[in-house]
Amino acid sequence: MARSNSSKKLSYIRDLFAKEYKKIEEYCILKKKKHIQISAEEGKLLSLFIKIHKVRSIVEVGTLYGYSSICMAKALPEYGHIYTIENDPEHLSIAKRNFSIFNLNNKITLIEGNALEKLNELSAKAPFDMIFIDANKSGYPQYLDWAELYIKQDGLIVADNTLLFNTVFLESPPEEVSEESWYAMRGFNYRLSDEKRYYSILIPTDEGMTVALKLT
Ligand SMILES: C[S@@+](CC[C@H](N)C(=O)[O-])C[C@H]1O[C@@H](n2cnc3c(N)ncnc32)[C@H](O)[C@@H]1O
Repeated sequence: MARSNSSKKLSYIRDLFAKEYKKIEEYCILKKKKHIQISAEEGKLLSLFIKIHKVRSIVEVGTLYGYSSICMAKALPEYGHIYTIENDPEHLSIAKRNFSIFNLNNKITLIEGNALEKLNELSAKAPFDMIFIDANKSGYPQYLDWAELYIKQDGLIVADNTLLFNTVFLESPPEEVSEESWYAMRGFNYRLSDEKRYYSILIPTDEGMTVALKLT
C-alpha cells in the first residue's frame, strides 16, 4: 500500500510539474542503467534554481547520457552555457547524439576526459555561476576545492547522491560503500554546512541533493 502510494505520489507530481521531461527521458533513460541519472522532479528543481538565480554559466561533472544537462540547458537563457564532463566513451557518444536531437549543441559543450583534469583546464574560463557535481563519489572533495576557487561569490554549488545511498549519516562506514567514498562524502557535506561560507541544505531526496549558495 505504502509503495503504491509512493509511486502514485511521484506520478502525480511528475504529470503536473515535470511533464516536459517525458521526451528527454525517452532518449536519456536507458533500461540497463535506469536509476543513475537524476529524477524528473530533480531536473525541474535544478531548472528552478537556474531561473530564480539567473544562472548563465554551469559546469557539470558527470554527464552520463545527458539527461541533467538537457534539463538545465533548457532552463538557461539563450546565451547561457553548460560545460559537461564525462569520461566513459559509450556515455559520451549517447550524450552527444542526445544533445543534437534536442538541438542544444550551441548551449552545451561536452568535454571528454577525467573530471579533475578537465576542471583544471576549464579554470581559464572561470568564474562560473553554478556547478552540478554528479560523478565518482570519492572525488567530491576535490570537485569542491575547485568550486571554491572558480564558482562566483553568490554562485551555486549543487551535488547529487550526497546521502551516499543512505549511509552518510551512519556512525562508521558500512560494508556497502567504500570507506574512501564514505569519508569523502562526510567531509564534503561538512564543509558545505559551514554557515560562514555557505547558505546551504542537504535536501532529503531519495539520493540526497546538497545545495549551497557560496557566500564568500
Ligand atoms: C550519476 S552519472 C551522471 C548522471 C547525469 N548527471 C544525469 O543526471 O543525467 C555519473 C557519470 O559520471 C561519470 N564519471 C564518473 N567518474 C568520472 C570522472 N572521474 N571523470 C569524468 N566522468 C566521470 C560516469 O561515467 C557517469 O556517466
